[in-house]
Amino acid sequence: MTTQRRIRFGVFFQGVNFGTIWSSDRSASQYDFETFRRVAQTAERGLFSAFFLGEGLRLREHFGRIHDLDIAGRPDAQTQLAALAAVTERIGLVATQNTTYNDPYDLAKRLNSLDLLSQGRAGWNVVTTDNAWTGANFRRGGYLDHADRYRRAREFVAATQRLWDAGAGAVGTQVNVDGDLVSFAAPAPLPPSAQGRPVIFQAGDSDEGREFAASTADVIFSAHPGLEEAIAFAADVRRRLPAHGRGPDDLKLFPGAQFILAETDAEAREKAEWVTHAQVSPQTAVRFLEPIWGRDLSEYDADGPLPDIDPVVDEVDGQRGSAFQGRRALETARQWRESAAAENLSIREFVIRRSSLRTFVGGYSTIADRIVQYVDAHAVDGFNVSPYLVPDGLDDIVDGLIPELQERGVYPTEYAGTTLRANLGLPEIVERGELAA
Ligand SMILES: Cc1cc2nc3c(=O)[nH]c(=O)nc-3n(C[C@H](O)[C@H](O)[C@H](O)COP(=O)(O)O)c2cc1C
Repeated sequence: MTTQRRIRFGVFFQGVNFGTIWSSDRSASQYDFETFRRVAQTAERGLFSAFFLGEGLRLREHFGRIHDLDIAGRPDAQTQLAALAAVTERIGLVATQNTTYNDPYDLAKRLNSLDLLSQGRAGWNVVTTDNAWTGANFRRGGYLDHADRYRRAREFVAATQRLWDAGAGAVGTQVNVDGDLVSFAAPAPLPPSAQGRPVIFQAGDSDEGREFAASTADVIFSAHPGLEEAIAFAADVRRRLPAHGRGPDDLKLFPGAQFILAETDAEAREKAEWVTHAQVSPQTAVRFLEPIWGRDLSEYDADGPLPDIDPVVDEVDGQRGSAFQGRRALETARQWRESAAAENLSIREFVIRRSSLRTFVGGYSTIADRIVQYVDAHAVDGFNVSPYLVPDGLDDIVDGLIPELQERGVYPTEYAGTTLRANLGLPEIVERGELAA
């Protein structure tokens, strides 16, 4: 079967996570360049569109201690991507950078630099970042609330695009920005790359976040990989596009997902048992609940039921930010307790079940068929894959799944071009300056 639509892959690493099993003796270090060189080159062998790094501005904390159950710390995303640009040729290099604590001129110059040095392969995942916990790093505290973080994000991205577009005219062209939350006067620092300007990704799932993506982003990175939820998400986001003068293909949808694959479904299920139990240790399972409950749950047995006490609602947890507190925490805890009780799941089994929601488990051919369903439904344009092992966790996708997808006509057989924009199937920027106010 052939279809015109294609699925694409990006490889995504969160700042910290338990999705990647760093403790395995098959895992390499998150500090070593060699680790990510191998991942990026494997992804490139599989014609992946992007190598994509999340970013945490501060080590994650948990009840006043560094949260080091998974990993603590990783080299800065843009520095790492600049190094990877030298050992790859086609794959896009996407850095998550927030608009709350960065400065637009500085960030515009750094992204423009990555774009030039990689010959048009840079992308910027725009995030607003949760507040006070990260903000203390900058002595600003939680200085912007949710709505203002998105107001600043809009002004910020518009300002960087004006700098990039001005640079396309002539380096040194003066740009004056005088917004409520972003203002500066500066000469455009650099000329454009081969793709005109970096590709804009967006991650943030609220109504404001989706609206911002609909107005501004080229790619939206979501946490909705299941087929039904992906279809609903796509409908919601695409209905927002016409108001911004954009068509349904102008915004590409890339949910995050994990893949556990093998020759047969049975082998893949067996592998999944190992992977999910290695990802979610008893300690990790209990710690997963703690930010919702807002209290130390270390007395609870991971093999027993979820805590029958309600969350503390008036304390802001340092790990996940205020969005998880208050009514939402109470509701979440009650929902989780009910659904775990309905299926008689222990804490650990429940956390494994929840984290498995984002995972495709099956034989190569089964999963390739499932992905064809996504393509036919136009539910996604691609998946951002988080490998469960590093550096060799992409091997079975590249060697086993991709050939099956290519056979079904839903995966590229070569890179479409040299830039990230081309390899995502995005229209070239014909008229530079199109977004300049
Ligand atoms: C899929 C996804 C990935 C994200 N990745 C990051 C990240 O790497 N760094 C970061 O600071 N925030 C990240 N965020 C958080 C956003 O910056 C934002 O603070 C948060 O989602 C709250 O905004 P919202 O209410 O619009 O979702 C991510 C959010 C989503 C949905």
